[in-house]
Amino acid sequence: MIRKMVAKDLTVVADIENTLFTNPWSEEQFHYECFENAYAHLDVYEEDGKILGYIDYWITFETAQLSKIAVCKDAQRKGIAQKLLYACIDHCEKAMCETISLEVREHNQPAICLYENNGFMEVTKRKGYYADGEDAYLMIKPLGGNYQ
Ligand SMILES: CC(C)(COP(=O)(O)OP(=O)(O)OC[C@H]1O[C@@H](n2cnc3c(N)ncnc32)[C@H](O)[C@@H]1OP(=O)(O)O)[C@@H](O)C(=O)NCCC(=O)NCCS
Repeated sequence: MIRKMVAKDLTVVADIENTLFTNPWSEEQFHYECFENAYAHLDVYEEDGKILGYIDYWITFETAQLSKIAVCKDAQRKGIAQKLLYACIDHCEKAMCETISLEVREHNQPAICLYENNGFMEVTKRKGYYADGEDAYLMIKPLGGNYQ
């Protein structure tokens, strides 16, 4: 099931993060996102009491941004990211957002496939976007909202 990320999840989420990213967010960064960033929405995917994935996205007036999506290595390719992303897009559409955007490493093929399958399009390349020098693609999906 998908539910809101809460304080007791942060240690586990940061542990998963450490196994997946070269520049992982710390537990403190997740704490900031959960409790201090008024624009951020964080969900976890939980099965049998175990957190297997999580997502962080920001709804900022007429636009939304996908900040992070991740699934434990041993739970990948089972449709969990797809479910998290679907719930995120649904929320952004209900909030009347006009677009949702994200940056992704140019060599992160699994993530790029996930985003393309969900209607995101590459609009530009951001040179040296990441700390290690890798380029990012900026990808955008139109949502059709009419934010007033
Ligand atoms: C990218 C990531 C979130 C995908 O999670 P997942 O739960 O395995 O993805 P799903 O099973 O929901 O797959 C959905 C779609 O994504 C694409 N995809 C996922 N993994 C893929 C892979 N290894 N190779 C190619 N396409 C892949 C496919 O299009 C897939 O649809 P399909 O199964 O019908 O072909 C996961 O690989 C991950 O956590 N990676 C490390 C963290 C990361 O890079 N996050 C994104 C940047 S913030």
